[in-house]
Amino acid sequence: MSRVLLFTGKGGVGKTTLAAATGARLAASGRKALVVSTDPAHSLGDALGTTLGAKPSEVDGGLYACQIDPRGLVDDAWGELRGHLRTMLAGAGVDEIDAEELTVLPGVEELLALAEVQRLASSGPWETVVVDCGPTAETLRLLALPEAFAGYLERLFPTHRRVVRGLLAGVAGTGTVEKWDATADALSRLAEHLEALRTMLADPARTSVRLVLTPERVVAAETRRTLTALALQGIHVDGVIANRLVPSPGSARGAAASWLRTRRHEQDAVLASLTGIGTLKTVDHRAAEPVGIPALLEVASGLYGTSDPLEGGASSGQMLEVSGSGRGHDASYSLRISVPLADDSELDLARVGDELALTVDGRRKLVALPSLLKRCIVTGAEMDDSGVTVRFRPDPALWMR
Ligand SMILES: Nc1ncnc2c1ncn2[C@@H]1O[C@H](COP(=O)(O)OP(=O)(O)O)[C@@H](O)[C@H]1O
Ligand SMILES: [Mg+2]
Repeated sequence: MSRVLLFTGKGGVGKTTLAAATGARLAASGRKALVVSTDPAHSLGDALGTTLGAKPSEVDGGLYACQIDPRGLVDDAWGELRGHLRTMLAGAGVDEIDAEELTVLPGVEELLALAEVQRLASSGPWETVVVDCGPTAETLRLLALPEAFAGYLERLFPTHRRVVRGLLAGVAGTGTVEKWDATADALSRLAEHLEALRTMLADPARTSVRLVLTPERVVAAETRRTLTALALQGIHVDGVIANRLVPSPGSARGAAASWLRTRRHEQDAVLASLTGIGTLKTVDHRAAEPVGIPALLEVASGLYGTSDPLEGGASSGQMLEVSGSGRGHDASYSLRISVPLADDSELDLARVGDELALTVDGRRKLVALPSLLKRCIVTGAEMDDSGVTVRFRPDPALWMR
């Protein structure tokens, strides 16, 4: 099973270039690497200076690359399952047009691209699979899909499939029941795949995200929001890379030097404002576009120096931590939820039974309360730029039980 490094960031910041450079560097040091593009706007071939297909091909010693074409995958895999679903829904009395609509699922193509990444990572000879993911918004949606789909499947085809089967047997002929069995099998396999994908994505030893940004205010602000969203999704970010840092002109004089000095000064200020996000690596803005393996290797040495590209920066620690003081009814506890937040993050916190629902800028995370805190009531909460602290005290009605 290969390590999976996902590169994402705003459009045009250099994701493709840095993903390709990382793969090239790994291969050059004798470690087989595959660079995969899941971005429908493929430009990986351009960066590598070659033409790529949907199947991995070796573009340099130990360096493989491909551009996944999600549409091709849809026809193969999903087409069959969709056919099953339609027949089954029609058999269950859902009219054809509704069945058609119910089985058009947004995001299926991307989901299949992700499944293809997983297949390559678990079956190929590569130590590392580097994924050129495309823009942030799409990537966040992509990474949330396995979870969303699992939920969708569960709603459409509840675990109590036997009951449905029984009902079907009552209203329809045996043929329908057999079709239902085939569909249920296909769905179980899909559910298993989704589960495997979720496990892969949530395992920090296997999968991590590298965020690419350029040192500009708006981009930096988006980076913070992305960090928050990924943390809420339980996905590990092990590197933030600022690309296109202009050279410092030193003490040179003249209009060009003055322009560079101002520009660099602004870039440094943006980088300095990016506090609390772990170590930040930087890449210089090069005079020429880094295209082709030699140029990519130069970018990689600027980025990684002599260190191992697989080594991540400082990781964020535990997401949840409980601390407390006092005893019995007078005790007070606090629950720290670590999640990077922006100054203008909109935060909402609600208790739903034994869970806390934390919503940041419209994205929700359910946090299961540790058993001690289930018997407490919330007395307050505070936020800062690295997370939320929720305060509790024992609920007299529950505490003694
Ligand atoms: N450090 C750099 N110096 C000079 N040009 C760069 C650098 N990084 C990227 N580029 C160029 O900028 C353009 C966009 O980069 P790309 O990697 O395709 O971005 P993304 O994948 O994020 O859209 C490409 O033409 C690329 O060659
Ligand atoms: Mg790109």
